[in-house]
Amino acid sequence: MTAILMQQINKTYGHDISQVQALKKINFQAEFGQLIGVVGPSGSGKSTFLEIVGGLLTPSAGTIQIDNQSYHDLSAAAREKLRLNKIGFVLQSYNLVPYLTIQEQFELVNRVKKTPNMNRDTFHQVIERLQIEPLLDKYPDALSGGQQQRAAIARALYANPQIILADEPTASLDSQKAFEVMNIFRDLAHSTNKVIIVVTHDTRLEKYVDQLYNINDGQIKLVK
Ligand SMILES: Nc1ncnc2c1ncn2[C@@H]1O[C@H](COP(=O)(O)OP(=O)(O)OP(=O)(O)O)[C@@H](O)[C@H]1O
Ligand SMILES: [Mg+2]
Repeated sequence: MTAILMQQINKTYGHDISQVQALKKINFQAEFGQLIGVVGPSGSGKSTFLEIVGGLLTPSAGTIQIDNQSYHDLSAAAREKLRLNKIGFVLQSYNLVPYLTIQEQFELVNRVKKTPNMNRDTFHQVIERLQIEPLLDKYPDALSGGQQQRAAIARALYANPQIILADEPTASLDSQKAFEVMNIFRDLAHSTNKVIIVVTHDTRLEKYVDQLYNINDGQIKLVK
């Protein structure tokens, strides 16, 4: 089943001489049940691409459908609801709430979302594999960058969305933990029929994905 369909997407920032064309005629399709990698160098358009998929940014041209619904046809409120219930983000900045402990960040998810969160057993496995247990009573500013990154990943997974969009989710992690994150993503995509998109400059992650795209200077190409 098609989760994401993008056709002829352009994105331009700025005006006149300061104009930057960040995305150029992007065609992209993703099915549920797959881990997808989009690999490209800094400035190639990865974050722009992901933010358009997630409806955080509006394209300058082209169409995008999420689970057969076009953002374009939805009211702002309906778009918000679709994002909340179907899409999870792991953003380049970790977006943890500074005044909540890691445990409380998960509890917050319970409060804001109606659709069911990840079941207890699967969540415990995730917590164990990401080594979050010792961090539960701490506040984000008491954690290292890598610990914050792992907590942010666990929080996004806990909300159990069908679509997960991750922007450089392993940038602050050592190789071992980075590979474990990719293994978790792949297991969850396959076992719970999610689509997970990871954008990264890290080519070591390529071997974990079911489908691989390269992005370069705003253009995207299917590699595997
Ligand atoms: N808000 C903005 N205003 C103007 N130009 C922008 C804006 N955001 C991004 N750009 C430009 O668009 C291009 C793509 O940026 P983007 O952030 O998508 O790249 P990226 O691949 O995510 O890079 P990185 O790996 O460094 O995070 C770059 O040339 C960037 O300078
Ligand atoms: Mg980026």
